[in-house]
Order: sequence, then structure tokens, then C-alpha cells
Amino acid sequence: MMNPNIVKTVLARRSALVEAHLESCLEDIHMPERLRMAMNYSLLAGGKRLRPVLCLSSASLFGLPETAAMPFALAIEMIHTYSLIHDDLPAMDDDDLRRGRPSCHRQFDEATAILAGDALLTDAFLFMASSGLNLGSGSPLPAGRVLAAIAEIAAAAGSSGMVGGQVLDMECTGQSHVPLDTLRSMHELKTGAMIRVSCTSGAILAGSSPQDTAALHRYGEALGVAFQIQDDILDVTGDTATLGKPAGSDAEEEKTTYPSLVGLDESRRLAAEYADKAASALAGYTGEDADFLRGLANLLVTRNH
Ligand code: IPE
Ligand code: IPE
Ligand code: MG
Ligand code: MG
Ligand code: MG
Repeated sequence: MMNPNIVKTVLARRSALVEAHLESCLEDIHMPERLRMAMNYSLLAGGKRLRPVLCLSSASLFGLPETAAMPFALAIEMIHTYSLIHDDLPAMDDDDLRRGRPSCHRQFDEATAILAGDALLTDAFLFMASSGLNLGSGSPLPAGRVLAAIAEIAAAAGSSGMVGGQVLDMECTGQSHVPLDTLRSMHELKTGAMIRVSCTSGAILAGSSPQDTAALHRYGEALGVAFQIQDDILDVTGDTATLGKPAGSDAEEEKTTYPSLVGLDESRRLAAEYADKAASALAGYTGEDADFLRGLANLLVTRNH
């Protein structure tokens, strides 16, 4: 097993690479300045960059250089950031702090926050589609792989994925007897789907076989549930300054979470179980990327933010 310090080093190197590309990614798009400010405000507020790192690492596992997968990594982070902006809106979780700053709707206004989210989502598809076109900026990725990855990402972000999961989350809010299966489906959709597709899209872009894509699917699916259970735990045990978002928000909003349904100890046990399940999905793979992905699963359920 990879030394946890090496996992942290690889994570820091890849997230810094993503960060550097995010900084200028909206530069060439012509748009109203206030919209650009709002999009960059939320995008460049220093998230962990987990999903783009998963995309780059899965691509690299099957031999595709990080730079080639970068448009998809950026697009996935843009979609994730849009989901956070909308998640914080008064009509949803009504949270005033995100990534250590006032939420987008607090810094700007609700209409600007809604539209910044809309634009991040839509421009993400521009980045992904452009990576398969011959625009004179590096060689295009094979169009068939680009199309397959876009289809997966659209499905994971949309009604049968993240947005569907957010609807289940809203439906369960304030309910006292939500079955554990419903909660797991909600987690699989609202968080798991984007984490899973971060892994499978990288593999697809690298031309992975159906068996390899399926292994990354199993890894990402279990990792996504583990990640959201830990997010639920941290909402109870973490502090606002470390989290960069309001601790205790779930209880205040009467959210159904793992700690609210099964308690903290059982939540911790389940998070570790899903992380182990994720790591074992990649048991047959060797090399630095496989070691990193397996080690990352464990790191994500021991994180404190
Ligand atoms: C927060 O995701 C929302 C969830 C899906 C749990 P992250 O914890 O990855 O947030 P950032 O990107 O680091 O801010
Ligand atoms: C949000 O889950 C999942 C998204 C799709 C954004 P949460 O509502 O628990 O995320 P946080 O805790 O606000 O980051
Ligand atoms: Mg929410
Ligand atoms: Mg929230
Ligand atoms: Mg949460």
C-alpha cells in the first residue's frame, strides 16, 4: 500500500496543476464582467479539486497524459462548482458560507448566483466538446471517446444523477423515517454520480476496455458514497473554520444524513467499509496511479475538511 504521505504529495501536485489551469480557463470566453466575476469567485475559492484529480488520475492509469484529459477535469470541476452554488441557495440548503467565503448569492445576489451556476454548467460542455475538435490548440482527442465521456458526464450530472439526487435530498428533508436504502440512493446520486463519472470519464478518454471502465465505475461508486458519509460526519463533528462551510447545517435544516439515521459510530464504520470496497475494486491494478487511487479512498474517509 502506498505511504499516506505519498498519496498526499500526489494529490497536492495534481490539484495544483488543476488550480493553475482553472485560473485562466474562463479568460477567452466573451461574457458580461459581473458574470465572469461571480463564476471565478466560486470556481477559484480553493476547493479540494478531488473530482478533477480523479479524472486526471484515471486517465493516467490507462496511459493518457494529464494535459490531454485537462479540459474534462476542468469541466467536471465547473459542474461541481455550479452544484455547490445552487446547493447553497435559500431555496435549497440556505448556507451563507462556502469554501471559506460568503456563498455566491451572499457575495453577489441570488439572480447572479443562479446564472453563474447555469453558465458554469453550460460552459463545461463547451470545454468538453472543444477537446474533440481541431481548433489548432494541441491535437484533438478521438471524437468517439469525447462523445462517450460527454454522454456519461451529462447523465451523471442530470436528472438521473446529481440533480435527481438533490431532488431526493429536498424530498427527505424534514422527514423522520427515511429508510437507509433511500439515503444510500440519495448519496449515490447527489454526490456519488459525479465522483464516479470523474473516474470513468478519465478512463474512457484514455481508451480503456469495457472491463477496465467497469472497475473504475465500481471504484468511483463506492468512493462517492464513502465521501458523502464523511461529509455528513464532518457536518456534525467538524468546525466551520476548518470546513469552510457552516458546521451543523444539516441538523439545522433537518436533513436526513448517515449520522441522523444510524449515529456517528456506525457512520464511521460504513464510511470505512465503502472506502475499502472502492480500494478493492482496483485490486488487480499496479503502478503509481493505482496505488494513489487506492490510497486516496482511505485518505478521504479520514479527512477533516
Ligand atoms: C462538497 O464537495 C459537496 C459534496 C458533494 C459533499 P467537496 O467536499 O468536494 O467540496 P470542495 O470542492 O472541496 O469545496
Ligand atoms: C451536496 O450535498 C451535494 C451536491 C450535489 C452539491 P451537501 O448539501 O451535503 O453538500 P455541502 O455539505 O453543502 O457541501
Ligand atoms: Mg445539499
Ligand atoms: Mg449543502
Ligand atoms: Mg454536507
